[in-house]
Amino acid sequence: MRHWLSMLDYTPETLAGLVGLARRIKAGEARDRTAAIREKILVQVFFNPSLRTRTSFEAAMLRFGGHAICLNVGGDTWKLEHRDGVRMDGDAAEHVKEAVPVLARYGDALAVRTFAALRSAEEDAREAVLRAFGRYSSVPVINMESAVEHPCQGLADWMTCEEKLAGGARGKHFVVTWAPQVKGLPMAVPHSAVLAAAAAGMNVTIAHPPGYELGGAFLDKARQWSAAAGASLSVTHEQFEACRRADALYVKSWGASGLYGDARAQADSFRQHAGWTVDVGHLGPRTILMHCLPVRRNVVIGDAALDDPRSVVVDQAENRMWAQAAILCDLFAGKR
Ligand code: CP
Repeated sequence: MRHWLSMLDYTPETLAGLVGLARRIKAGEARDRTAAIREKILVQVFFNPSLRTRTSFEAAMLRFGGHAICLNVGGDTWKLEHRDGVRMDGDAAEHVKEAVPVLARYGDALAVRTFAALRSAEEDAREAVLRAFGRYSSVPVINMESAVEHPCQGLADWMTCEEKLAGGARGKHFVVTWAPQVKGLPMAVPHSAVLAAAAAGMNVTIAHPPGYELGGAFLDKARQWSAAAGASLSVTHEQFEACRRADALYVKSWGASGLYGDARAQADSFRQHAGWTVDVGHLGPRTILMHCLPVRRNVVIGDAALDDPRSVVVDQAENRMWAQAAILCDLFAGKR
């Protein structure tokens, strides 16, 4: 069974094909491909909240003649257990071993959002809930943001760079800068943004304070893809200089892996690095400003930068719909 769980399961060439398809769908040029969505049912399972992901998937299904069902775990459905061999005498009334195969009988694909618990980096890296969905489903499973990856977002980010940067993404400078927050956040979005930019052949710089290193496996793969494309990947603690060199400046907050499970120490660290908030002065004359949203104004990015014409955050969010339409077409292709 082919799933869309991780960019690491795909080659840069295949990912580039999906970005190309997304752009053709957006331009209304791929009706032969979008026919694959017609009369299909997508079952979305959310363990965490969403504005864009839920709506963009539903919109992609509805626009091309399919239908989407949305379940909020613990809200409008039972709480789900995913661990093997446990005595289920707590909150969870149903195990994914039954729930996932049942949902797969109703839908043509399942999509799941399951964020990092942020208690243990090792536990989050195992992606236990996402992997259980993949294991127990008889239809394709889509990762709508998991503990360590957000591949739908990454594909939309790549598409946005292709659209917005003169001459396309390849060879351009893609800078991911850390920014402060009010609470710890996972690394899923920066991991996928870096992987996508590396696959696109962009020169990637990651700027963050010491202690905020991204996951080694993702950096290793991104370095490998960058090198294969003749591009570079570097890490710096000098934010301002990196930002000013950017063709595309991607702002994102994430937590320090060394502070996992320690909310107070994490909050203190954010306060110490309050100067990392990005504002209009960080933008070069032709820099595009990117963020996956939602964004806390004047904590992560200042009003002046978000309201500047160089901000492409709304276009980037729109592209989630087209990128996901491409993923759905690909997963449904050949299935009647
Ligand atoms: N970027 C993103 O995934 O947005 P939501 O959390 O609103 O779905």
